[in-house]
This record gives sequence, C-alpha cells and structure tokens, in this order.
Amino acid sequence: MGRTRLINIGHLYGITEGLSPKIGSDLAIVENIENAYLDFEADRIVGYGKMSDAAGESAETYDVQGGIVYPTYIDCHTHLVYAQNREGEFVDRIKGLTYQEIAQRGGGILNSVEKLRSMSEDELFSEAKTRLDKLIKLGTGAIEIKSGYGLSLDAEVKMLRVVKRLKQTYSIPIKATFLGAHAFPTEFKDKPEAYVDYIIDVMLPAIAQEGLADYIDAFCEVGYFNVEQTKRIVQAGNQVGIHARLHVNQFESFGAIQMAAENNAISVEHLEVLSDADVEVLSNSSMYAVGLPACSFFIKIPYTDARRLIEAKVPFVLASDYNPGSSPTGNLSFVMSLACIYMQMLPSEALNALTVNAACSLGIENEVGSIAVGKKANVIVSQQVKTLSAVPYQFGENVIDAVFINGQLTT
Ligand code: NIG
Ligand code: FE
Repeated sequence: MGRTRLINIGHLYGITEGLSPKIGSDLAIVENIENAYLDFEADRIVGYGKMSDAAGESAETYDVQGGIVYPTYIDCHTHLVYAQNREGEFVDRIKGLTYQEIAQRGGGILNSVEKLRSMSEDELFSEAKTRLDKLIKLGTGAIEIKSGYGLSLDAEVKMLRVVKRLKQTYSIPIKATFLGAHAFPTEFKDKPEAYVDYIIDVMLPAIAQEGLADYIDAFCEVGYFNVEQTKRIVQAGNQVGIHARLHVNQFESFGAIQMAAENNAISVEHLEVLSDADVEVLSNSSMYAVGLPACSFFIKIPYTDARRLIEAKVPFVLASDYNPGSSPTGNLSFVMSLACIYMQMLPSEALNALTVNAACSLGIENEVGSIAVGKKANVIVSQQVKTLSAVPYQFGENVIDAVFINGQLTT
C-alpha cells in the first residue's frame, strides 16, 4: 500500500513519543510543528516534520490548506449503549426537579433500565452504531463503553455483547466496562446486600468467563452503592483481573477515593465534590482523575476542580460521560470548551487530557493518543481553524473537517 501525505499543515499538534501521562505543569505542553507534513502508511504514522523537509513520493496527498491536525480524541467514560433518550426528565429539571429527585421518583437510571430490558440486542446494536458513527465524525478515535442499564444477568450480558459487536465492527480501540452496580434494580429494592452478592456471585463470573469486560465500575454515592459495597465489588473484580474505574464524588465525598486507592482502582471519575483529604489521597496514588464537565453543565452541578488536581500532580483526564440522563452528548470538542470555560483549563491542557492522558488511563498509549511514528494514523483535520485554541473557542460549532482512522479518511 502506498503512502498518504497530509501537506500544508499550519500546525501539527500533539507530537509526543512519551508513553506516560502528562502531569502538573507538563499538562500544558503540546508539542507542535508549524508548516508541517504528516505521512501515513497502511494504518500507521510513518513520519512527520517541516513541510520544507518532506521527501519521497506519496501515492495520495491531502491538502490541509494551512489548517491544523491533531490526534483523535479518546473518550474514556461513556454509557453509549442505551435504548432511549430521556428528554422528559430534561423538561422536569427545567421545571425545578433535581437529578436526584427524578431518580427518587423511579426516573433516572431505572427509567433507562426498563427501556433497555425490552429492547433486542440487534436493535441496541444498531442504535449504538448510529451514535458511534456520529462520534467518529466528531473526532473520537477510541472509546470506553459501560453496561449498567440492564441490572440483571441477561440484560447486562446483552449490553456487553453489544459492546463486543462494536469492537468487532470498528477498527478504533473500544473498551468494555461492567457497571452492574449502577443502581439497585426494583427487584432488589429492599435487599441491597443481596444485589451486591448477585453482582459478585452471578453476574461477574459469567461476564468474566465470556470475556465481556475489560473493567468493572460502580456508582459509589449516597443512595446508590456505599463504600463497603463498592469495595466488595472492586475486590471481586481484582480477583478475576478486571480492575476498577469508579463513579465517585459526584454529589458527596464520603471515603470512596480512599477506598479506591487502597484497592488499586485505575481511576476515579466525576469528582465534582472533593475534600482536602480526597486531593491528598489522589496526589499520593497513581490513580487517574477523570473530569466530566458535560455532566456538570447539563445537570447544573459543580465542575471538578481541575486546577487543584493538576497542581497536586494528579494525572488528569477528561471524558464525555455520554448517557441519556446526565450528559446526552459525546462531542469532545464541546467538552474541551467546557473544560476551558468552567474549569480554567488551557486548550493545551484540555487536549492532553483528552488524548495522551486518556490513552494512558485505558492502557492504549502504545497505539493512540499522540502523533508519533508507529502509532495508529488516527487524526483530526480542521482546515477552518488555524490554532488549537480556536477549537474550544468556537464552542457549539463543528470545526472538524476530516477525521482519519487507521490512515483512512472517514466519510
Ligand atoms: O455518570 N452517575 C451515574 N451514572 C451516569 C448517569 C446515568 C444516567 O442518568 O442514566 C453518570 O452521570
Ligand atoms: Fe457515567
């Protein structure tokens, strides 16, 4: 197969051979080359440099016309597989109900559970595929997808089989997370401990046996899974080699982060509410902290204090939390805008949080997350903008003109 060359790149951003997360002041460093070219062969990046140094023939060229090129985004926290939108709850919130009040009335996650249980695997797959096609056009080049709207063995397995089919269908890296502990299903409403037993003794072994999960997750929150219950789930996952990425500190700080650190969780995610002790634990652990600003925006809750975590040298990652209840978008350019506007992150910090750091958190840093020779040729092209800062600046606009996945222009 011949070589493809992207030419006349005004700025080529996100160059790094480094395979570790960027922390502290390094998070703001995005290496770039002005007036650059970028070469692909088959599905890999094979070279890049100054336009004036471009040598050799290429079978195909793509003229970036002075615009920018950067690595595709990596979304490490989504709930992409679901049956139906929940715009009714959106209207209820406009009328004054909170996210928690809606959940207490049987809405929220349990609303999605009811819809998902009655939808076939094929239909769920086709809906998820439509969403993922759209996300790839918006620049997502790797994604994590959770279960958690089934909450029974059959329905959780159905969701994870959909994710498995997505893995087989797409050439982008996809990771699956088992989130049986997303809420207590109606059948177990009055016997929470029995549901935790069911997750550990029935669901997890079946899911592990079928190889359906790369990670395990739990919504550790007041009114959902308490620290002790979450700990049992994390430990059961560790025993079968399925490590945790956890929903914690969305509404309350009550010891979840400490427990996560003590039990080798990979990441703690949400973190809208953080105590001094939480930050201290994070700064002494190797866990990733994942901020989800689209959720804060959509359900109007505080934003994660990214500046504090960055200053404490915690590896910081951003993701969409794409789901029908608290964040019905997977548009990571918009997530970047929110991070810049509401979390005081520099555009360069937001890009690193969505690329190299996200890749490290998912263990796919050898494949994706930066412009480096040997990595997958997964890049975003914007001819319309001339600097990285213009991407978050033009919030609500799609400034992405082309996305290459494995060296192929997606259509
Ligand atoms: O990450 N907080 C828990 N889970 C999701 C929301 C799920 C839903 O509302 O459907 C979240 O925000
Ligand atoms: Fe989530």
